[in-house]
Amino acid sequence: MTSNQDLIATPTAFDLAAYLTDRQPRVEAALDASIRPAYPDTIYAAMRYSLLAGGKRLRPILCLASCEAVGGDPDLALPMACALEMIHTMSLIHDDLPAMDNDDYRRGKLTNHKVYGDDIAILAGDGLLAYAFEYIATQTQGVSADRVLKAIAHLARAVGANGLVGGQVVDLESEGKSDISIETLIYIHNHKTGALFQSSVVCGAILAGATTAEIEKLAKFAQNIGLAFQIIDDILDITATGAELGKTAGKDVEAQKATYPKLWGLAESRHQADKLVAEAKTILAEFGDRALPLQALADYITDRKN
Ligand code: FPP
Ligand code: MG
Repeated sequence: MTSNQDLIATPTAFDLAAYLTDRQPRVEAALDASIRPAYPDTIYAAMRYSLLAGGKRLRPILCLASCEAVGGDPDLALPMACALEMIHTMSLIHDDLPAMDNDDYRRGKLTNHKVYGDDIAILAGDGLLAYAFEYIATQTQGVSADRVLKAIAHLARAVGANGLVGGQVVDLESEGKSDISIETLIYIHNHKTGALFQSSVVCGAILAGATTAEIEKLAKFAQNIGLAFQIIDDILDITATGAELGKTAGKDVEAQKATYPKLWGLAESRHQADKLVAEAKTILAEFGDRALPLQALADYITDRKN
């Protein structure tokens, strides 16, 4: 897991390391409390194994920061933040399956199917996905039902065939092809990664009662940082070690995946990521100091080492 010391060199004056030192344990505790061991033991153990395997918790933290950026109490968005991590986790469990990327390591641990078998791993993913929506609907407190409904609808759209699922399908279909266009690559990343980033930011703002204009700006901010996140992911797959990443490095080249470095080279890919983050930060300028955590998180996305 990234040390918060690694984050101190971010360009903004905002102390992101201190912010994360406060937020990450709160998210960890909320996740641990969200799903307790129960009968049937195997499925709850498998769900908890991946959900509590660490990670940066970026999506929950973005959701809480977005809620704050429009003047909301972040506790309102804590069940939503947990649900986002449940969905992110289930997408990785399924992505790692032999039928997809066939990966053995995730977050420095054996992948879910390596421990529990393919059958339980599929079901653990399904269980997390269903529970994420139940959790938002039953645990969100102090927010009107229409805001909760709007947030659930946004998240559901981001997860389905118009979001993560669609992006993953085009990603799988593009493997091994040498003629993938930049438009297809952007489609893959905007859907496979960008959609959940966007929903993290937008749903935090919806729960806080953001205006339509605020939501539109935050959505654009999130789209940019989602794309930048994926470009950096593609770069790190080439430049970082497996120990740094907590997963097998060099998989994209091996699987002949369509990536930014493959299309543009490393230097241009880094330049594009920096440009997207700079644009994203400009969009947030009018939100003032309340958006400083979001601004610093945008920098962290391009500065990260894993
Ligand atoms: C990792 O990408 C995978 C994703 C970001 C999402 C994958 C989405 C699915 C498997 C769909 C899941 C189903 C639902 C209903 C949401 P990567 O393989 O490029 O990154 P990695 O190197 O970390 O594996
Ligand atoms: Mg993968």
